Amino acid sequence: MKILEVKDYQQMSNKAAEYIIEKVIRFPSIKLGLATGGTPIGTYKKLIEDHQKNGTSYRRVTTFNLDEYIGLSEENKNSYRYYMNENLFNHIDIEKSRTFIPRGDVDDIQKESLYYEDLIAKHSGIDLQVLGIGSNGHIGFNEPGTLFESSTHIVNLAPSTIQANARFFNRVKEVPTKAITMGIATIMKSKEILLLISGEEKRETLFRLLNGDVNIGFPASVLKNHPFVTIIADEAAVKDIK
Ligand code: F6R
Repeated sequence: MKILEVKDYQQMSNKAAEYIIEKVIRFPSIKLGLATGGTPIGTYKKLIEDHQKNGTSYRRVTTFNLDEYIGLSEENKNSYRYYMNENLFNHIDIEKSRTFIPRGDVDDIQKESLYYEDLIAKHSGIDLQVLGIGSNGHIGFNEPGTLFESSTHIVNLAPSTIQANARFFNRVKEVPTKAITMGIATIMKSKEILLLISGEEKRETLFRLLNGDVNIGFPASVLKNHPFVTIIADEAAVKDIK
């Protein structure tokens, strides 16, 4: 894993956006894996800025999001489809029909999981997967204990994840307790991974990632087995840990 240290959240966002833009220019039909949550919002803002200023085009880009809450429709403002439309897709020239997010509002989520996994495979996999990380080391919504062999599946969110994500909802009770997520094996099949980590509250998480061993109790540790991972971390996350 290569680690790039930057000053703060803004610099992390700039660097991540530059990284993605460079790939999109070189490979206009790139398949991007995308994350939601607080971490990538600044990166998406920079992508939009660049699209408006420099005209970087996403017309041939395909995207696959990591996860979606179960029970929220695409119109619900807390769904990850809504988040992606609002924070990125509505502001660039991407074809919406090429933006894929697992559906959390269908009757048969099991079937949806198989469908989503197959869809990614049919597109010959993800070229560049952007990841955030949960304080407990989750990637996507793969909570501690998830098998490294897992493909897209249904998860029960950890209490700490529900608590952390409550900031986006009116009340903690509104946070769905289940989600559909790419599995760890799905993520690991990506040709390249870009992991973004910002803030003091992620310092211990980054410490565990860099210094701990590879085990299912800390899902992100699996990234050590991937040949092409770049971490962009800001000073607050990196401070005093190496
Ligand atoms: C989001 C996702 C999660 C988040 C993680 C960190 O699609 O898959 O793994 O990346 O929960 O969230 P933030 O960035 O809000 O700290």
